[in-house]
Amino acid sequence: MTRVLFVCLGNICRSPMAEAVFRKLVADEQLTDQIEVDSAGTSDWHIGKSPHTGTLAKLAEYEVSSEGMVARQLTVKDAEDFDYIIGMDAENIGNIRNLFGDNNHQRVIRFLDLTRHQKDVPDPYFTGDFQETYDLVLEGCQALLDLIKKEDITK
Ligand code: 4NP
Repeated sequence: MTRVLFVCLGNICRSPMAEAVFRKLVADEQLTDQIEVDSAGTSDWHIGKSPHTGTLAKLAEYEVSSEGMVARQLTVKDAEDFDYIIGMDAENIGNIRNLFGDNNHQRVIRFLDLTRHQKDVPDPYFTGDFQETYDLVLEGCQALLDLIKKEDITK
């Protein structure tokens, strides 16, 4: 089993979007038994909340299920529980590394470093542009799935 955790600041806009899109790609390739997906926020601001209405609307538009997603905060234990920790931006990566401290995790990755973009995922909480974020998240998810298949740790 390979476990993937997407991380952003609030766990209501970007990381739940990535969680839902990635889960769909995994299901489409019949890999649901081999790859587990979750998301979390570095802040405690929205614990227990559903995703942002902008994220929900974009997922519905592309027929991606957002069922059962509830915001939670990143914990130190996540370093042990997940094989890939995917941060949406450089600030997330800094906060993840600070929290994990000496738990020197091998695969903490800024999401779009897996793509030709090599940049932060814009935060639609501030930009209001959920389409731009969705397009980049989809590209990142495809790149991540390719990487996992290549690294072949799903066996
Ligand atoms: P997210 O976006 O990190 O993609 O979930 C944000 C959500 C909420 C806030 C900031 C960013 N906030 O300031 O409450």
